[in-house]
Amino acid sequence: MTPLRFQWRGTTSPQNVEDFRDRARRALPEMVWTYLEYGAEDLVTLDANRSAFDRYRLRSRVLPGAACTDLGVTIGGQQLSAPILLAPTGLVGLVHWRGELGAAQGAERAGTLAITSTAATYSFSEVAAGTTRPHFAQLYAWADPVTGSHELTDTLVTAARNAGAGALVVTVDVPVPGNRERERRRGMGNPPVVTPRRIVQGALKPRWAAGVLRHRRIAMKNLVDAVGLDAVASSLNLHQRMTRPELSWSDLEWVRARWPGVLYVKGVLDADDAARMVDLGADGVIVSNHGGRQLDGAVATLDALPAIAARVGDRSEVLLDGGIRRGSDIVKALCLGAKAVCLGRSFLYGMAADGPRGVTSVVNLLRDEMSRTLTLAGVRSLRDLNREMLVPRETAIPPARSRGVAE
Ligand SMILES: Cc1cc2nc3c(=O)[nH]c(=O)nc-3n(C[C@H](O)[C@H](O)[C@H](O)COP(=O)(O)O)c2cc1C
Repeated sequence: MTPLRFQWRGTTSPQNVEDFRDRARRALPEMVWTYLEYGAEDLVTLDANRSAFDRYRLRSRVLPGAACTDLGVTIGGQQLSAPILLAPTGLVGLVHWRGELGAAQGAERAGTLAITSTAATYSFSEVAAGTTRPHFAQLYAWADPVTGSHELTDTLVTAARNAGAGALVVTVDVPVPGNRERERRRGMGNPPVVTPRRIVQGALKPRWAAGVLRHRRIAMKNLVDAVGLDAVASSLNLHQRMTRPELSWSDLEWVRARWPGVLYVKGVLDADDAARMVDLGADGVIVSNHGGRQLDGAVATLDALPAIAARVGDRSEVLLDGGIRRGSDIVKALCLGAKAVCLGRSFLYGMAADGPRGVTSVVNLLRDEMSRTLTLAGVRSLRDLNREMLVPRETAIPPARSRGVAE
C-alpha cells in the first residue's frame, strides 16, 4: 500500500447520509427538493423524529471478542442483509427518472427490499419485471364513501398480487392530506404550479431535467393502469380521493380478507391501535408518522415504539420509520423493540444524488455504520439488543443491574 496518495481535488465520495443529502439538494430544483425534504405545518413532528434519537446514549461494553458483522434478519418471510427496507414514497420518478424501479434495484443490490408506493411512477408490475425479489407493495385502502365499494382498491390489490409482491403494506395515517404549506408555496400542491422562475430552476439542473423530460416518469403509474388515466393531474386527483376520512376498521378487515399474504399496517403511533390491527390479522405494524408529513405535533416514532413493541411485539413484526439517518439510529430503534426500520428521505437522497447506485450506497453505508456501532458498543449479535443497552441522555449513567452483554 502506498503511504500517501496525491489528488488534485480533496473531494471524496459521500461519507454518510448527510453527504448524500447535500448532493441531493444540489441535484434537484427547489420545487422537487421541497417535496422530498419538508413536512406538515411547523415541522414539529419532522424535527421530533430526529431529536428523539439524541435522547439516548449507547451503553458501551468493551472486549467483545469479535466484530458484529451478521446483521441479517427475516422480514415478512424474506431474508434481508440488514434490518433496513425502503419505505414507500410516491413520485420517486420526480427525484430521479429511474424512479421506484431503480430504487428497488438499488435495494436489491444491497441485499434488501423496497416497498413500492401506490403513488409510484413505476407500477407494481414494472418493478416486478425489472427485479428478481418479491418487493412489497403499499396500498392506500379506499372505499367509496357513498357506495362503500372497494373497486379501485381491489384493482390495486390484484395488481400487487399479480406482481408477486412479498407483502402488502396498508397506509392508514392519511385520512386527509397533511397541511404541507411549504410544498404549496413552492408549487408542489395539487395541481403542481409551474412558473417561468421554476422552469429556469429546473433548466439549471440539466442532468435532472434531461432525465425527467426524456422519460417523463411523473404520473402515478399504478393509478394510470388501474383506471386508464393518462394525465399527471388526473392521477394526482385520484390519489387525493383515495385518502379519505371515511376509512375505518372495516376497510382494514376488507383488505385482510382480500389479501392472503403477509400484511403490514403502516402509520401506527398508539399501542391500542396496534393491538386492534394485529387482532384483525395484521402480520406486522410499521410505527410511522409519515415522516412528519401528516399530523404535525404527533409524537416521534421512536417515542411511540416501546409501548407498541411491548403490546404486540410477541405476536407480530414491529417496524419503525422516521428520521433514520445513521446506523446508530437503527441500533437504538432495535433496542426499543423494532425488528427493522424503513428509510424514507435517506434513500431518496441517494436516489437524487446517484440513482440506483446511490440507494445501494446509502443502505450499505448504514449497514456498515450499524456494524461498527455494535462492535464499538461491545455487542456481538442483534439478539443481544434490548432496552438496557440504552441510557437516557439526561442521566447518562449506566444502569446498576448488569446483564452481561458481551461474555
Ligand atoms: C417524498 C415522500 C413521499 C412519501 N410518499 C409516501 C407514500 O406514497 N406512501 C406512504 O405510505 N408513505 C409515504 N411517505 C412516508 C414514508 O413512507 C415514511 O413514512 C417516511 O418518509 C419516513 O420518514 P423519513 O423520511 O424521515 O425516513 C413519503 C415520504 C416522503 C419523504
